[in-house]
Amino acid sequence: MIFDNILLAENSGIATITINRPSKLNALNSTTIDELHNALKSIKDRIEVKVIIITGSGEKAFVAGADISEFADYSIEEGSNLAAQGQKKLFDYIENFNKPVIAAVNGFALGGGLELAMACHFRVASINAKMGLPEVSLGVIPGYGGTQRLPQLIGKGRAMEMIMTAGMIDANQALSYGLVNHVTAQEELVLLAEKLASKIMRNSSVAISAAIRAINSGFKDGVNGYQAEIDEFGNCFGTEDFEEGTTAFLEKRKADFPGK
Ligand code: COA
Repeated sequence: MIFDNILLAENSGIATITINRPSKLNALNSTTIDELHNALKSIKDRIEVKVIIITGSGEKAFVAGADISEFADYSIEEGSNLAAQGQKKLFDYIENFNKPVIAAVNGFALGGGLELAMACHFRVASINAKMGLPEVSLGVIPGYGGTQRLPQLIGKGRAMEMIMTAGMIDANQALSYGLVNHVTAQEELVLLAEKLASKIMRNSSVAISAAIRAINSGFKDGVNGYQAEIDEFGNCFGTEDFEEGTTAFLEKRKADFPGK
């Protein structure tokens, strides 16, 4: 698959997607959103890919937002379409992806960039990262899930403040808010994400997909997360991974999960 705005590399079960428009600080235009969707779709059913890392190219930005030049003259209808399509194609798609997606936030993660990071299952950041939802400074609000995921991750009051002030927080503040799980030097960021990915890959990929669905259930309207957990838990008992995991434990050996 050939892409203009992203790079896709695979190594030992880890697919790394790098958003690659450094001259525009990796801003998300519609082509980039399509390419991210297509790259993820191409990975979704490939059993040998276990974890995805999303990062930005260059040393300055993860993603500095949705591409402002693309929507500056949009009508009301085009604006709501932009948000609806983007949420469906990319942000919800990542959140509900069947494999873990880690955001490696290597610089500015603003607007759609922070929304992209928040749609990932968890985030790590380099010390130079700066995060914010500055949309109200442009006369608009976050449209790629930011008004929902930011309060889920850091609490309503902090989210209100960040969105209303349009300000940026640094990596350590993001760490203290629980917005990112770890902070490290920029040159070690992808290594750290890969280390976490390797740890994840030792476990059952089938159980991990079930855990993603169960965790996400608790954040969905009209869905009972506890019931979803019961259902997913029960289904695990019918998997080859469960058989291997429990047998390996009882035989005092390391599990070799078939991923089925
Ligand atoms: N959309 C489109 N282009 C963007 C962009 C965005 N969200 N963010 C940065 N760019 C472009 C700039 O227009 C500039 O392009 P140019 O060289 O062709 O003029 C290039 O990326 C470099 O950005 P620049 O502003 O010169 O870098 P800086 O170091 O001075 O400032 C930021 C960095 C991140 C503070 C600044 O780019 C910024 O505020 N970006 C917009 C952030 C934003 O509001 N995002 C939310 C969008 S909904």
